[in-house]
Amino acid sequence: MRQESPVHFDEQRERWDLFRYDDVNRVLTDHDSFTSDRSRMGTASASDTEDGGSILQTMISVDPPDHNRLRGFVNERFQPGTLRDYQPRIEELTGTLLDQIDGTTFDFVDEFAVPLPVIIIAELLGIPAERRDQFKEWSDALIARPDDRSTTTVKQVRERRQQAQQEMGRYFAELLAERQNGTGDDLITLAATTDELTREEQIGFCMLLLLAGNITTTNLLTNALWCFEEHGITDAIRTGKIDRKQAIEEVLRYRSPIQSLDRIAVEDVELSGQRIQAGDVITGWLGAANRDPERFDAPEAFRPERSPNRHIAFGTGVHYCLGAPLARIEADVAFEMLLDRFETIEADLTDLQPIHSLYGLESLICHYEV
Ligand code: HEM
Repeated sequence: MRQESPVHFDEQRERWDLFRYDDVNRVLTDHDSFTSDRSRMGTASASDTEDGGSILQTMISVDPPDHNRLRGFVNERFQPGTLRDYQPRIEELTGTLLDQIDGTTFDFVDEFAVPLPVIIIAELLGIPAERRDQFKEWSDALIARPDDRSTTTVKQVRERRQQAQQEMGRYFAELLAERQNGTGDDLITLAATTDELTREEQIGFCMLLLLAGNITTTNLLTNALWCFEEHGITDAIRTGKIDRKQAIEEVLRYRSPIQSLDRIAVEDVELSGQRIQAGDVITGWLGAANRDPERFDAPEAFRPERSPNRHIAFGTGVHYCLGAPLARIEADVAFEMLLDRFETIEADLTDLQPIHSLYGLESLICHYEV
Protein backbone atom coordinates (compact mmCIF):
# COMPACT_ATOMS: atom_id res chain seq x y z
CA MET A 1 0.00 0.00 0.00
CA ARG A 2 2.89 2.34 0.77
CA GLN A 3 4.12 1.92 -2.77
CA GLU A 4 0.95 1.47 -4.76
CA SER A 5 -1.76 3.39 -2.96
CA PRO A 6 -0.23 5.39 -0.12
CA VAL A 7 -3.29 7.63 0.30
CA HIS A 8 -6.17 5.26 -0.16
CA PHE A 9 -9.93 5.64 0.23
CA ASP A 10 -11.51 2.50 1.65
CA GLU A 11 -15.09 2.29 0.37
CA GLN A 12 -16.21 -0.14 3.02
CA ARG A 13 -15.00 1.80 6.03
CA GLU A 14 -15.62 5.10 4.25
CA ARG A 15 -12.32 6.55 5.30
CA TRP A 16 -8.86 7.37 4.06
CA ASP A 17 -5.86 5.26 5.01
CA LEU A 18 -2.37 6.74 4.99
CA PHE A 19 0.69 4.53 4.87
CA ARG A 20 3.72 6.74 4.27
CA TYR A 21 5.75 8.26 7.06
CA ASP A 22 5.64 11.76 5.56
CA ASP A 23 1.86 11.73 5.08
CA VAL A 24 1.14 10.34 8.55
CA ASN A 25 3.56 12.84 10.04
CA ARG A 26 1.93 15.72 8.14
CA VAL A 27 -1.58 14.82 9.33
CA LEU A 28 -0.51 14.51 12.96
CA THR A 29 1.45 17.75 13.03
CA ASP A 30 -0.99 19.89 11.03
CA HIS A 31 -3.70 20.16 13.65
CA ASP A 32 -5.22 23.19 11.92
CA SER A 33 -6.26 21.08 8.94
CA PHE A 34 -6.79 17.75 10.74
CA THR A 35 -8.72 17.72 13.99
CA SER A 36 -8.64 15.21 16.86
CA ASP A 37 -12.17 16.16 17.88
CA ARG A 38 -14.08 12.95 17.22
CA SER A 39 -17.45 14.63 17.64
CA ARG A 40 -16.73 16.17 14.22
CA MET A 41 -16.73 12.77 12.56
CA GLY A 42 -19.50 12.17 10.05
CA THR A 43 -22.19 9.51 10.48
CA ALA A 44 -19.98 6.84 8.91
CA SER A 45 -17.82 6.82 11.98
CA ALA A 46 -20.24 7.80 14.69
CA SER A 47 -20.65 4.18 15.78
CA ASP A 48 -16.90 3.90 15.88
CA THR A 49 -16.69 6.79 18.26
CA GLU A 50 -19.20 5.10 20.50
CA ASP A 51 -17.46 1.77 20.33
CA GLY A 52 -14.02 3.27 20.72
CA GLY A 53 -14.93 4.17 24.27
CA SER A 54 -14.54 7.87 23.71
CA ILE A 55 -15.52 9.34 27.02
CA LEU A 56 -15.40 12.79 28.51
CA GLN A 57 -13.72 15.64 26.72
CA THR A 58 -10.00 15.29 27.43
CA MET A 59 -6.72 16.56 25.99
CA ILE A 60 -6.55 13.72 23.48
CA SER A 61 -9.76 14.75 21.69
CA VAL A 62 -9.35 18.52 21.79
CA ASP A 63 -7.39 20.83 19.47
CA PRO A 64 -5.32 23.86 20.43
CA PRO A 65 -5.85 26.32 22.02
CA ASP A 66 -8.05 24.40 24.47
CA HIS A 67 -5.63 21.49 24.30
CA ASN A 68 -2.94 23.62 25.97
CA ARG A 69 -5.16 24.21 28.97
CA LEU A 70 -6.12 20.53 29.33
CA ARG A 71 -2.53 19.32 29.06
CA GLY A 72 -0.56 22.27 30.43
CA PHE A 73 -1.39 21.73 34.10
CA VAL A 74 0.14 18.23 34.10
CA ASN A 75 2.90 18.45 31.48
CA GLU A 76 5.64 19.12 33.98
CA ARG A 77 4.83 15.98 35.97
CA PHE A 78 5.60 13.74 33.02
CA GLN A 79 8.92 15.27 32.05
CA PRO A 80 11.84 12.82 32.24
CA GLY A 81 13.57 14.93 34.92
CA THR A 82 10.53 14.94 37.20
CA LEU A 83 9.92 11.25 36.68
CA ARG A 84 13.50 10.37 37.57
CA ASP A 85 12.72 11.15 41.22
CA TYR A 86 10.02 8.57 40.98
CA GLN A 87 12.19 5.80 39.54
CA PRO A 88 13.11 4.19 42.92
CA ARG A 89 9.40 3.73 43.61
CA ILE A 90 8.91 2.14 40.17
CA GLU A 91 11.76 -0.22 40.99
CA GLU A 92 10.19 -1.10 44.33
CA LEU A 93 6.80 -1.84 42.76
CA THR A 94 8.43 -3.90 40.01
CA GLY A 95 10.38 -5.88 42.59
CA THR A 96 7.24 -6.65 44.59
CA LEU A 97 5.53 -7.90 41.45
CA LEU A 98 8.50 -10.10 40.55
CA ASP A 99 8.47 -11.54 44.08
CA GLN A 100 4.99 -12.88 43.42
CA ILE A 101 6.08 -15.00 40.45
CA ASP A 102 6.85 -18.55 41.51
CA GLY A 103 7.18 -22.04 40.03
CA THR A 104 9.21 -22.47 36.86
CA THR A 105 6.68 -21.22 34.32
CA PHE A 106 4.64 -18.05 34.20
CA ASP A 107 2.57 -16.02 31.80
CA PHE A 108 4.56 -12.87 31.15
CA VAL A 109 1.43 -11.04 29.98
CA ASP A 110 -0.94 -11.89 32.82
CA GLU A 111 1.51 -11.93 35.67
CA PHE A 112 3.82 -9.09 34.74
CA ALA A 113 3.02 -6.93 31.69
CA VAL A 114 -0.64 -6.38 32.57
CA PRO A 115 -0.37 -5.57 36.28
CA LEU A 116 2.84 -3.47 36.19
CA PRO A 117 1.49 -0.37 34.39
CA VAL A 118 -1.77 -0.50 36.38
CA ILE A 119 0.09 -0.57 39.69
CA ILE A 120 2.31 2.31 38.62
CA ILE A 121 -0.43 4.58 37.33
CA ALA A 122 -2.59 3.78 40.37
CA GLU A 123 0.32 4.84 42.55
CA LEU A 124 0.90 8.06 40.56
CA LEU A 125 -2.77 8.94 40.74
CA GLY A 126 -2.85 8.16 44.44
CA ILE A 127 -5.35 5.29 44.37
CA PRO A 128 -5.38 3.45 47.70
CA ALA A 129 -3.73 0.03 47.27
CA GLU A 130 -6.83 -1.85 48.44
CA ARG A 131 -8.81 -0.49 45.50
CA ARG A 132 -6.35 -1.70 42.85
CA ASP A 133 -8.15 -4.87 41.90
CA GLN A 134 -11.37 -2.98 41.36
CA PHE A 135 -9.41 -0.44 39.43
CA LYS A 136 -8.01 -3.07 37.11
CA GLU A 137 -11.46 -4.53 36.52
CA TRP A 138 -12.70 -1.10 35.48
CA SER A 139 -9.81 -0.43 33.18
CA ASP A 140 -10.26 -3.85 31.53
CA ALA A 141 -13.95 -3.14 30.96
CA LEU A 142 -13.16 0.26 29.45
CA ILE A 143 -10.95 -1.21 26.77
CA ALA A 144 -12.81 -4.51 26.23
CA ARG A 145 -13.95 -5.41 22.74
CA PRO A 146 -16.19 -8.24 21.67
CA ASP A 147 -14.06 -11.28 21.00
CA ASP A 148 -15.04 -13.71 18.23
CA ARG A 149 -13.93 -16.64 20.34
CA SER A 150 -16.24 -15.86 23.22
CA THR A 151 -20.00 -15.57 23.46
CA THR A 152 -20.15 -12.02 24.78
CA THR A 153 -22.09 -9.82 22.43
CA VAL A 154 -21.29 -6.28 21.35
CA LYS A 155 -24.23 -5.13 23.45
CA GLN A 156 -22.96 -6.85 26.59
CA VAL A 157 -19.48 -5.45 26.17
CA ARG A 158 -20.90 -1.97 25.65
CA GLU A 159 -23.12 -2.22 28.70
CA ARG A 160 -20.25 -3.39 30.87
CA ARG A 161 -18.12 -0.57 29.57
CA GLN A 162 -20.76 2.03 30.31
CA GLN A 163 -21.26 0.65 33.78
CA ALA A 164 -17.52 0.62 34.48
CA GLN A 165 -17.25 4.16 33.15
CA GLN A 166 -20.00 5.38 35.45
CA GLU A 167 -18.65 3.59 38.51
CA MET A 168 -15.17 4.80 37.86
CA GLY A 169 -16.39 8.33 37.18
CA ARG A 170 -18.20 8.34 40.51
CA TYR A 171 -15.15 6.97 42.28
CA PHE A 172 -12.84 9.63 40.80
CA ALA A 173 -15.41 12.36 41.54
CA GLU A 174 -15.37 11.29 45.20
CA LEU A 175 -11.58 11.27 45.43
CA LEU A 176 -11.32 14.61 43.61
CA ALA A 177 -13.82 16.20 46.01
CA GLU A 178 -11.97 14.79 49.02
CA ARG A 179 -8.66 16.18 47.77
CA GLN A 180 -9.70 19.60 46.50
CA ASN A 181 -7.92 21.30 49.38
CA GLY A 182 -5.26 18.63 49.59
CA THR A 183 -1.51 19.11 49.54
CA GLY A 184 -0.42 15.63 48.40
CA ASP A 185 1.74 15.25 45.32
CA ASP A 186 -0.44 12.62 43.65
CA LEU A 187 -2.04 13.38 40.28
CA ILE A 188 -5.61 13.31 41.60
CA THR A 189 -4.71 16.09 44.04
CA LEU A 190 -2.96 17.98 41.24
CA ALA A 191 -6.10 17.76 39.09
CA ALA A 192 -8.41 18.57 42.03
CA THR A 193 -6.51 21.72 42.96
CA THR A 194 -6.08 23.26 39.51
CA ASP A 195 -8.34 26.17 38.58
CA GLU A 196 -7.85 25.35 34.93
CA LEU A 197 -10.22 22.38 34.77
CA THR A 198 -13.90 21.85 35.53
CA ARG A 199 -14.74 18.86 37.71
CA GLU A 200 -15.92 16.96 34.61
CA GLU A 201 -12.59 17.65 32.93
CA GLN A 202 -10.74 16.49 36.03
CA ILE A 203 -12.63 13.19 35.95
CA GLY A 204 -11.91 12.86 32.22
CA PHE A 205 -8.23 13.44 32.87
CA CYS A 206 -8.06 10.65 35.48
CA MET A 207 -9.86 8.23 33.18
CA LEU A 208 -7.69 9.14 30.21
CA LEU A 209 -4.52 8.31 32.12
CA LEU A 210 -5.86 4.85 32.76
CA LEU A 211 -7.01 4.26 29.24
CA ALA A 212 -3.96 5.69 27.54
CA GLY A 213 -1.27 4.30 29.78
CA ASN A 214 -2.10 0.72 30.66
CA ILE A 215 -2.74 -1.53 27.72
CA THR A 216 -0.23 0.41 25.62
CA THR A 217 2.60 -0.21 28.07
CA THR A 218 1.48 -3.82 28.59
CA ASN A 219 1.96 -4.41 24.88
CA LEU A 220 5.29 -2.63 24.73
CA LEU A 221 6.57 -4.97 27.45
CA THR A 222 5.11 -8.05 25.77
CA ASN A 223 6.31 -7.10 22.30
CA ALA A 224 9.76 -6.41 23.73
CA LEU A 225 10.16 -9.88 25.20
CA TRP A 226 8.67 -11.34 22.02
CA CYS A 227 11.22 -9.49 19.83
CA PHE A 228 14.15 -10.23 22.14
CA GLU A 229 13.37 -13.95 22.21
CA GLU A 230 12.58 -14.12 18.51
CA HIS A 231 15.96 -12.64 17.70
CA GLY A 232 17.83 -14.50 20.42
CA ILE A 233 19.15 -11.33 22.06
CA THR A 234 17.71 -11.67 25.57
CA ASP A 235 21.10 -12.64 27.03
CA ALA A 236 22.92 -9.90 25.16
CA ILE A 237 20.51 -7.42 26.73
CA ARG A 238 21.01 -8.94 30.16
CA THR A 239 24.78 -8.55 29.92
CA GLY A 240 24.61 -5.08 28.38
CA LYS A 241 26.18 -6.19 25.10
CA ILE A 242 23.12 -4.74 23.44
CA ASP A 243 21.86 -1.44 24.80
CA ARG A 244 18.54 -2.03 26.55
CA LYS A 245 17.08 1.42 25.95
CA GLN A 246 17.93 1.37 22.26
CA ALA A 247 16.49 -2.12 21.86
CA ILE A 248 13.23 -0.93 23.44
CA GLU A 249 13.08 1.93 20.91
CA GLU A 250 13.41 -0.62 18.12
CA VAL A 251 10.54 -2.62 19.61
CA LEU A 252 8.43 0.54 19.58
CA ARG A 253 9.23 0.99 15.90
CA TYR A 254 9.02 -2.63 14.82
CA ARG A 255 5.97 -3.71 16.81
CA SER A 256 4.24 -0.43 17.65
CA PRO A 257 1.54 -1.09 20.28
CA ILE A 258 -0.73 1.53 18.69
CA GLN A 259 -0.83 0.86 14.97
CA SER A 260 -3.06 3.73 13.85
CA LEU A 261 -4.47 7.11 14.82
CA ASP A 262 -7.54 8.88 13.44
CA ARG A 263 -8.08 12.48 12.45
CA ILE A 264 -10.79 14.36 10.56
CA ALA A 265 -10.08 16.88 7.81
CA VAL A 266 -11.55 20.27 8.69
CA GLU A 267 -10.97 21.72 5.23
CA ASP A 268 -10.38 20.43 1.73
CA VAL A 269 -6.73 19.41 1.43
CA GLU A 270 -4.48 17.65 -1.00
CA LEU A 271 -2.34 14.81 0.29
CA SER A 272 0.14 13.08 -2.01
CA GLY A 273 -2.01 13.93 -5.00
CA GLN A 274 -5.37 12.90 -3.52
CA ARG A 275 -8.14 15.39 -2.74
CA ILE A 276 -9.46 14.96 0.76
CA GLN A 277 -12.64 16.80 1.62
CA ALA A 278 -13.62 18.61 4.79
CA GLY A 279 -15.29 16.08 7.10
CA ASP A 280 -13.45 13.05 5.72
CA VAL A 281 -12.08 10.61 8.27
CA ILE A 282 -8.41 9.68 8.02
CA THR A 283 -6.55 6.79 9.58
CA GLY A 284 -2.80 7.27 9.76
CA TRP A 285 -1.00 3.94 10.03
CA LEU A 286 1.86 4.39 12.50
CA GLY A 287 2.82 0.76 11.94
CA ALA A 288 3.30 1.36 8.21
CA ALA A 289 5.02 4.73 8.71
CA ASN A 290 7.45 3.10 11.12
CA ARG A 291 8.49 0.67 8.40
CA ASP A 292 8.69 3.18 5.56
CA PRO A 293 11.89 2.50 3.54
CA GLU A 294 12.07 6.22 2.70
CA ARG A 295 12.69 6.80 6.37
CA PHE A 296 14.38 3.68 7.76
CA ASP A 297 17.14 1.50 6.33
CA ALA A 298 16.10 -2.16 6.09
CA PRO A 299 12.78 -1.33 7.75
CA GLU A 300 11.62 -4.94 7.91
CA ALA A 301 14.67 -5.94 9.92
CA PHE A 302 14.63 -5.78 13.71
CA ARG A 303 17.86 -4.00 14.56
CA PRO A 304 18.19 -3.41 18.29
CA GLU A 305 21.15 -1.09 17.77
CA ARG A 306 19.32 1.11 15.21
CA SER A 307 20.33 4.74 15.57
CA PRO A 308 18.91 7.23 14.87
CA ASN A 309 15.47 5.71 15.29
CA ARG A 310 12.88 8.40 14.71
CA HIS A 311 9.80 6.21 14.97
CA ILE A 312 6.40 7.74 15.64
CA ALA A 313 5.04 5.02 17.91
CA PHE A 314 4.18 7.72 20.47
CA GLY A 315 2.57 9.93 17.82
CA THR A 316 3.91 13.40 17.06
CA GLY A 317 2.79 17.02 17.16
CA VAL A 318 0.81 18.55 20.01
CA HIS A 319 -0.72 15.21 21.03
CA TYR A 320 2.66 13.48 21.29
CA CYS A 321 2.24 10.93 24.07
CA LEU A 322 2.27 12.57 27.48
CA GLY A 323 3.32 9.29 29.04
CA ALA A 324 6.19 8.45 26.69
CA PRO A 325 8.92 9.19 29.26
CA LEU A 326 7.04 7.12 31.85
CA ALA A 327 6.54 4.20 29.47
CA ARG A 328 10.25 4.28 28.63
CA ILE A 329 11.27 4.22 32.28
CA GLU A 330 8.80 1.43 33.03
CA ALA A 331 10.10 -0.73 30.20
CA ASP A 332 13.73 -0.04 31.07
CA VAL A 333 13.26 -0.85 34.76
CA ALA A 334 11.09 -3.87 33.94
CA PHE A 335 13.73 -5.53 31.76
CA GLU A 336 16.65 -4.54 33.93
CA MET A 337 15.02 -6.13 36.96
CA LEU A 338 13.44 -9.10 35.22
CA LEU A 339 16.70 -10.17 33.56
CA ASP A 340 18.60 -9.56 36.75
CA ARG A 341 16.19 -11.71 38.72
CA PHE A 342 15.96 -14.63 36.30
CA GLU A 343 19.17 -16.35 35.33
CA THR A 344 17.55 -17.77 32.21
CA ILE A 345 14.25 -16.97 30.64
CA GLU A 346 12.79 -18.68 27.63
CA ALA A 347 9.51 -17.69 26.01
CA ASP A 348 7.38 -20.17 24.11
CA LEU A 349 6.85 -18.54 20.71
CA THR A 350 4.66 -21.25 19.20
CA ASP A 351 0.96 -20.61 18.66
CA LEU A 352 0.98 -16.95 19.68
CA GLN A 353 -2.45 -15.33 19.79
CA PRO A 354 -2.86 -11.67 18.90
CA ILE A 355 -4.98 -9.43 21.12
CA HIS A 356 -8.00 -7.71 19.59
CA SER A 357 -7.44 -4.12 20.56
CA LEU A 358 -3.84 -3.04 20.00
CA TYR A 359 -0.78 -4.85 18.60
CA GLY A 360 0.25 -7.42 21.16
CA LEU A 361 -0.25 -10.93 22.48
CA GLU A 362 -2.89 -12.61 24.61
CA SER A 363 -0.23 -14.50 26.51
CA LEU A 364 3.46 -15.28 26.43
CA ILE A 365 4.40 -18.32 28.46
CA CYS A 366 7.92 -18.31 29.85
CA HIS A 367 10.13 -20.88 31.54
CA TYR A 368 12.75 -19.46 33.84
CA GLU A 369 15.44 -20.27 36.34
CA VAL A 370 16.42 -17.96 39.14
C1 HEM B 1 4.25 2.14 25.14
C2 HEM B 1 3.33 2.82 25.72
C3 HEM B 1 2.56 3.91 25.05
C4 HEM B 1 2.30 4.13 23.72
C5 HEM B 1 2.75 3.28 22.53
C6 HEM B 1 1.51 5.34 23.64
C7 HEM B 1 1.09 5.91 22.47
C8 HEM B 1 0.45 7.13 22.37
C9 HEM B 1 0.11 7.77 21.13
C10 HEM B 1 0.39 7.21 19.73
C11 HEM B 1 -0.49 8.96 21.44
C12 HEM B 1 -0.99 10.01 20.44
C13 HEM B 1 -2.49 10.03 20.31
C14 HEM B 1 -2.96 10.99 19.24
O1 HEM B 1 -2.16 11.71 18.64
O2 HEM B 1 -4.18 11.00 18.97
C15 HEM B 1 -0.55 9.04 22.87
C16 HEM B 1 -1.10 10.08 23.58
C17 HEM B 1 -1.24 10.09 24.95
N1 HEM B 1 -0.70 9.18 25.84
FE1 HEM B 1 0.40 7.55 25.38
N2 HEM B 1 1.31 5.81 24.91
C18 HEM B 1 1.93 4.98 25.80
C19 HEM B 1 1.99 5.11 27.17
C20 HEM B 1 1.36 6.09 27.88
C21 HEM B 1 1.39 6.23 29.32
C22 HEM B 1 2.18 5.34 30.28
C23 HEM B 1 0.60 7.30 29.63
C24 HEM B 1 0.26 7.93 30.96
C25 HEM B 1 0.49 7.49 32.11
C26 HEM B 1 0.10 7.85 28.39
C27 HEM B 1 -0.72 8.93 28.29
C28 HEM B 1 -1.06 9.56 27.11
C29 HEM B 1 -1.87 10.76 27.05
C30 HEM B 1 -2.47 11.50 28.23
C31 HEM B 1 -1.98 11.10 25.69
C32 HEM B 1 -2.72 12.29 25.09
C33 HEM B 1 -1.77 13.42 24.88
C34 HEM B 1 -2.42 14.61 24.21
O3 HEM B 1 -3.47 14.45 23.59
O4 HEM B 1 -1.86 15.71 24.30
N3 HEM B 1 0.58 7.09 27.36
N4 HEM B 1 0.05 7.92 23.43
